[in-house]
Amino acid sequence: MAEQRPSGGDEQKNEARAESGAGSVSAPAVRFAHESEAEFARILDFYGVTWKYEPRSFPLRWEEERVAEAFTPDFYLPDLDLYVELTTLKQGLVTDKHRKLRLLKEIYPDVRIKFLNKRDYLRLLAKYGYGPPSAEAIQAIDRVLITEAQLQRRVSELGAQVTKDYKGRAPLLVGVLRGVACFMADLMRRVSLPLAVDFMAISSYEGDKSGAVRILKDLDENVEERDILVVEDIVDTGMTLNTLLNYLHARRPASVRVCALLDKRARRLVDVPLDYVGFEVPDEFVVGYGLDYRQVYRNLPFIATLRKDWMEDGPWQMPGIVRPKKAPRGKKKRPK
Ligand code: IMP
Ligand code: MG
Repeated sequence: MAEQRPSGGDEQKNEARAESGAGSVSAPAVRFAHESEAEFARILDFYGVTWKYEPRSFPLRWEEERVAEAFTPDFYLPDLDLYVELTTLKQGLVTDKHRKLRLLKEIYPDVRIKFLNKRDYLRLLAKYGYGPPSAEAIQAIDRVLITEAQLQRRVSELGAQVTKDYKGRAPLLVGVLRGVACFMADLMRRVSLPLAVDFMAISSYEGDKSGAVRILKDLDENVEERDILVVEDIVDTGMTLNTLLNYLHARRPASVRVCALLDKRARRLVDVPLDYVGFEVPDEFVVGYGLDYRQVYRNLPFIATLRKDWMEDGPWQMPGIVRPKKAPRGKKKRPK
């Protein structure tokens, strides 16, 4: 209810979302006047859209130099340069709001503002490319760890560093499928060098704690005398990467370095050298930007943690997701 809010010039007061590295995007200490506003903020967080809550009041009417009437939009979205007023209130108030909106547009013709009801949220965000707008997916997310903007910025930095370090050479980027898909696609476009790309697919033997891995898809390129840059989505225990590095070194490349988007250092069992790291992440299961949980969530444009109570059954409740049949017991192949 804008009419009860103090108008003031403290523009930055309710700025939400930190801009620094991983894990810093925590719940902002903002007091919302309505539950619907808190929900809207949650949805914006989900999509990695920066927001400010009531950052500015627009005087609409003056009485002898004093502001007699003002309008304070609920949100400002800097990325879209857009003020948003939620209109989930009673009809009487909505009518008054529309009167104020007309005044605001008259006095401040350059200010972009939208009135949104609940149903309009996702439509607006989808229009600006924040997808996929699925209510089920939103429910499953605990919190966004790394926003789309943070990912893009960091991947650009990594690409620039690789370009510098490999100057005069043409590295072979080796990606480990399938989680690396998004990272590889973005990283290689940030490297300004002639380069080659190859992929391997690896599977860990189920139930084998030794970390043994099986090669499902081998390299197509010959790596001998080449400068190899292994591109990994996430290094957890380090088992996979360790095996892969042994495998590559045996093929006598000129050099091998590792570029990992995420480093879950707290879980490391094998000490593997990481030459480039995007973000360090806490010891939690993360999804998005290529990373999956049971093949779901890879297409989220950001990295997020999942709600624990959703991890068991959540994915299978989504429309269009087919629960794979369990393999019959006792038939699992185990390596010696
Ligand atoms: P590691 O051998 O334990 O280092 O496991 C690395 C692989 O496990 C990664 O390439 C991922 O495929 C998978 N993985 C580990 N942690 C996560 C996670 O938090 N989310 C999704 N996949 C993960
Ligand atoms: Mg992987």
